[in-house]
Amino acid sequence: MNRIKIDPQRVIGIIDRNIFGGFAEHLGRCIYGGIYEPGSPLSDKHGFRKDVLDALRRLGIAIVRYPGGNFASGYRWRDGVGPVSERPARTDLAWNDIEPNHFGTNEFIEFCRRLKTEPYLVVNCGDGDMREARDWVEYCNGTRETALIKLRQAHGYPKPHGVKYWGIGNEVDGHWQIGYKTPEEYARVFTEFGKVMKWVDPSIKLVAAAVSDWKGALVERTRLLLEQAGDLIDYLSLHWYIGNAANDFEAYMAISELLEERLSAYEGLVQAVSFERQIKHPIYIAVDEWNVWYRTFPPEVRETMKLEEIYNLEVALVTAVQLNAFIRHARTIKMANIAQIVNVIAPIFTRPDGLVLQTIFYTFELYSRTCGNLALDPWWEGDTFSGGAYKGVRVLDVSATLDGNKKQLAIYVVNRSRAKEMETSVQLSNGEFKGDIKIYTVNGPDIKAENTFETPANVQIKEKRITARNHTLNFTYEPHSVTALVCDIA
Ligand code: AHR
Repeated sequence: MNRIKIDPQRVIGIIDRNIFGGFAEHLGRCIYGGIYEPGSPLSDKHGFRKDVLDALRRLGIAIVRYPGGNFASGYRWRDGVGPVSERPARTDLAWNDIEPNHFGTNEFIEFCRRLKTEPYLVVNCGDGDMREARDWVEYCNGTRETALIKLRQAHGYPKPHGVKYWGIGNEVDGHWQIGYKTPEEYARVFTEFGKVMKWVDPSIKLVAAAVSDWKGALVERTRLLLEQAGDLIDYLSLHWYIGNAANDFEAYMAISELLEERLSAYEGLVQAVSFERQIKHPIYIAVDEWNVWYRTFPPEVRETMKLEEIYNLEVALVTAVQLNAFIRHARTIKMANIAQIVNVIAPIFTRPDGLVLQTIFYTFELYSRTCGNLALDPWWEGDTFSGGAYKGVRVLDVSATLDGNKKQLAIYVVNRSRAKEMETSVQLSNGEFKGDIKIYTVNGPDIKAENTFETPANVQIKEKRITARNHTLNFTYEPHSVTALVCDIA
């Protein structure tokens, strides 16, 4: 018997809705043919795909990072504003493509408004300069009578866009990046870009690119960045992509341990440097690119497949494992962006005549819809397994949240056994279950099940209700499933 104990008073931290963030890059069919398809019968008169917007609304995406990604490191924002017919097509070296610039800053802001989501822009510190970066802040947020504000007004936007979140560079630690930077170079660039960007608009929040290449002296790199630029950093960005190239289910499921190690290490690092340097403002962590990406990763297929990864049930499980990690680290992780939102390593997959919701869509939707505003500290024990380098990993992966206003509890459990049900006693060590318990389960016929245009509902959310008495509930988790148990507590 597995055992989970929850004390609704043991709050770890406040959950920032921005952990349900997304990322849209000029890459493959994410923007063109994904979000934006002028002339399509499925688009509105401005070219936004209405079916995509509806699906994204279901995900409750709180913030969207744009325009890249690697693309950002060669992007000129001025190419993407003004009359569309006058915008230049450019070579995109990041993805070896041609960028027509028909979608740019203002289209992105329009998209965010339709979605009621927060825009998050990444400035080019690859082959771009600080003048461009601070001009972009001014164009978007400025209120004074300057040429850039007049330009924005001439483009049809009298009021400032009020973009609060700004990233300086993307994956600058990776040699694949246009304008890769040594730790010293990036610390300096961040300081100088950040300084003038904040002078233009002191209310903006800055995101520093810390780690994407999880090799080498990464702690050293981040420590230097925090020491030299800590005063200006609001968020430290981590990126990761995981996968199952070896087709080893157990190793894949044990990824929770690695993520735990990474997050704990970075939390500690930020805390230690903040203490030593007496940095008084909080520096949060933004995992502003996370997902599964391996089938379309190797260079020989990357070009042709443009990262159009098809996801199966096991990916829906590791998506939940990642969301559980973000919830358990809610005290420091204040933003996380699934990469990406449409077509390119994404929960939504389009064709000119419709779309399909991938397996991971349902996991994300489930968490985003039911997650409370407070992260709790669950205790659990039970069956274990070995996967990759990790032994004694608990088969269940658990997180829990409380909606402080509604007194509603949500307990998220991934059963990582491919064949076994997990009988579990779920106990409240404070308070009692009240009324019906809603059970939402993401599952499918087997771990390789996918949703396709032909079979769109292989994996989805099933709902049922049960009742519990007092403070203990015995529940059996289905094999290879993600379950949210949502209930009121007294
Ligand atoms: O999301 C795809 C790519 O992955 C992004 O452009 C880059 O930042 C990362 O390497």
